[in-house]
Amino acid sequence: MAKPSHATWGGRFSAGPAELMLQFSESVSFDRRLAPFDVAGSKAHSAMLAHVGLITAKERDAIHAGLDAILADIEAGKFTWETKLEDVHMNIEQALTKRVPAAAKLHTARSRNDQIATDMRLFFKHACAVLAEKILGAERALLAAAEASRDVLIPGYTHLQRAQPVFLAHHLFAWLEMLDRDRARFAAVAAHANWCPLGSGAIAGTTLPIDREFTAKALGFVDAKGRPQVTQNSMDTVADRDLFIEFASACALFGVHASRIAEDLILWSSSEFKFVELPDAFCTGSSLMPQKKNPDSCELLRGKSARLQGNLHTLLTLAKGLPLTYNRDLQEDKPPVFDSFDQTAICADVLAGTLGGMEVIRERCAAAVADPALLATDLADYLVLKGVAFRDAHHAVGAVVRLAEQKGVALNRLSTVDVHGVHPAFEADWADVFDLKRALAKREGTGMPGPKQVARQFARWRKALA
Ligand code: ARG
Repeated sequence: MAKPSHATWGGRFSAGPAELMLQFSESVSFDRRLAPFDVAGSKAHSAMLAHVGLITAKERDAIHAGLDAILADIEAGKFTWETKLEDVHMNIEQALTKRVPAAAKLHTARSRNDQIATDMRLFFKHACAVLAEKILGAERALLAAAEASRDVLIPGYTHLQRAQPVFLAHHLFAWLEMLDRDRARFAAVAAHANWCPLGSGAIAGTTLPIDREFTAKALGFVDAKGRPQVTQNSMDTVADRDLFIEFASACALFGVHASRIAEDLILWSSSEFKFVELPDAFCTGSSLMPQKKNPDSCELLRGKSARLQGNLHTLLTLAKGLPLTYNRDLQEDKPPVFDSFDQTAICADVLAGTLGGMEVIRERCAAAVADPALLATDLADYLVLKGVAFRDAHHAVGAVVRLAEQKGVALNRLSTVDVHGVHPAFEADWADVFDLKRALAKREGTGMPGPKQVARQFARWRKALA
C-alpha cells in the first residue's frame, strides 16, 4: 500500500508519489544553489505580509530569524537537503516549519510559480554582475598585453591569408570590442531581470490585500530613482522564460567570442606562426611526444563554446511549445542556465589568465609583416593618386605581382623600369609605398590602424577599463 503524502501539497492525495517519481521530479539537487535568493525572497515577502497586517510583526521576526538560521546552516554545510521535498523552496519552508510555528503563514499569497520566478530574477541580477566583472578582468589582461606590445606590427588576415599590416594592438583591440559588447549585454540582461514577480501567485495573483511594490522595494527591484518595478501580467510572469534565454544567449555569444580569440591564439602560437608564446600555466604537454606544448586552454575555450550554445538551444526548445502558463517542463530550465553561468565564469577567468601570460615574439611578427605583398593595395592606391581608376590600378598591380612571381623576387625588388613597363603611371617613387611606417601613418581615419588612431584607442580603453 502506498504511503500517504507528506508533501506541502499533499492534502488532496491519498497516496504519496512513488520513489521513482520522487527521483524523477526532484530539483533540489540543482536548485539548492538558489537558497540565498529564496531566503531573501521569503524575508521580503513576510515583511510585506506584516506590513499589510496578514501576519504580526512578531511572526515576521520569528520567520526572519528562522530563515537566517537556516541559511547559516546551509552555508556551513550543516543543512540536510531532502529529495522527497522536491525543491529548494519546500526544503527551506519545511525546515522553517520545524523551527517556527509562524512558518505555516509564510506561503500566504504566494505560489512556487512566482517564487521560482523571483529567485531566478535575483539569480540573474547576481550572475550578470559576476560575469561582467570577470569579463572586465579579461579585458584588462588584453589591454595590458596591448600595452606591452604597442609598437609591434603583424599581418592582418582575411581568408587566413596575409592581407594588410596592422598594429598587433589593433588586432587585440578588435577582441576588446567583442568582449566589451559582451559585458554590456550582461548589463542589459540584468536590467531586464529587474522586475519583481512576487504577487503574481500561481497564475492569477491573490484575493488577499498584498502590497507588491513593498516587496519589490525590499528586494531591490527598483529603477534608478528607487521606484519599485513589478511585473505587469501575472500569467506572463509565471510562464515567461525570456530571461533564461537572454542570459544563455549572452553566455553563448561570449563563448563564440572567446572561441574566436582562442582560435587566433592557437594559430599564433603554432610553430608556423609563432607570433606568441602561451603561458606554460595554461598549456599542457603530450604523454607521448616530449617536445609538445599544447594550447589546451584555448582549445577548451573553443570546445566550451559548443556547450554554451547547446544550453541556449535547450532553453529555446524547452519554451517553444508550452501552453501558458507554468508547466513542470520549466523545471528543466535551471540546469542549462547554471551550467552556462559556471562555464562562462571559468572561461572568462581562463581567458584572462591565458592572455595575461602571453608573450609576444617580436622577431616572428616583424618577419611576417615584412612581406611586401601586404602593401599591394597601397600600391594600387598610389596609382589612384596618380589619376588611375581603381579597377585599372588593381589590374596593373596584379600584373606587377605576377611579374615578381615570374622573376622569383619580392614585390619591392622589381625595378622601376619593370613596373613602368606594366603601367606608365609608376614612377621612381613607387617603392616608397613599401615603407611600413609610412603605410600605417596613412591610415588615420576613425577605426583604422594608424598610429594616432591606435593611440586614441589606448586612451579610450585605459579610461573605460580603469
Ligand atoms: N521546482 C519548480 C521549478 O523549478 C518550482 C515551481 C513548482 N511549481 C509547481 N507548480 N509545481 O519549476
